[in-house]
Amino acid sequence: TKKIQIAIDGPAGAGKSTIAKIAAEKLGYTYIDTGAMYRALTLKALTEKIDLSSEQAVTDLLKNSTIELKPSPQGQLVFLDGVDVSSEIRSNEVTSNVSKVAAHASMRAIMVELQYDMAVKGGVIMDGRDIGTAVLPKAELKIFMSATVEERARRRFEDNQQRGIESSFESLKEEIALRDKMDSEREASPLVQAEDAIFVDTTHLNIEQSAEEILKLATERM
Ligand code: C5P
Repeated sequence: TKKIQIAIDGPAGAGKSTIAKIAAEKLGYTYIDTGAMYRALTLKALTEKIDLSSEQAVTDLLKNSTIELKPSPQGQLVFLDGVDVSSEIRSNEVTSNVSKVAAHASMRAIMVELQYDMAVKGGVIMDGRDIGTAVLPKAELKIFMSATVEERARRRFEDNQQRGIESSFESLKEEIALRDKMDSEREASPLVQAEDAIFVDTTHLNIEQSAEEILKLATERM
């Protein structure tokens, strides 16, 4: 069988990373979470008090950084300038600022190249917002995964509860809706479904069912 590229795009909380991880494991593929790279850059920008609205400053910051993703049994570890930042990049502060950083075109051009190089040999499942449209336009399988805002907020809420993090359902819903809006309305490779992507609505699917769907579609293309 052929080692294909699988691109999964969609809004925050649609289940992309959970499902991609399971599918990658079953296929023996590498899972690549591109959101983690934008999060790592945002963490550095916040720490160094860079002006997040300055395209030049954000682009220069990336040029002077190394961001590496390393597969691990838990999924993937993220290293920023050689330091493991896998948990820091999930903080509320990073989450609420990442879409501002991710809006800059000249910075994105560098990220896209880094991500393309990671996936060029195939045998990968890459998730993000612009994978099917910008990073891997020739991917054999493109999925656009979504669910209602209510359902996505409910999943985040339960996730947080399980991790012992306190959160309010209403503010989670607002944060998700705002991030979707910023990601979809930006000029530089906005979140849109690629023409040749298959829409998967996970609102009424559980994790196993969603992963099965991806595996079925992938197998047909190998
Ligand atoms: O996937 P995750 O929610 O961790 O992504 C965080 C943010 O990074 C997104 O809200 C988006 O602003 C940005 N992002 C992006 N392009 C990607 C992946 C993520 O702009 N390919």
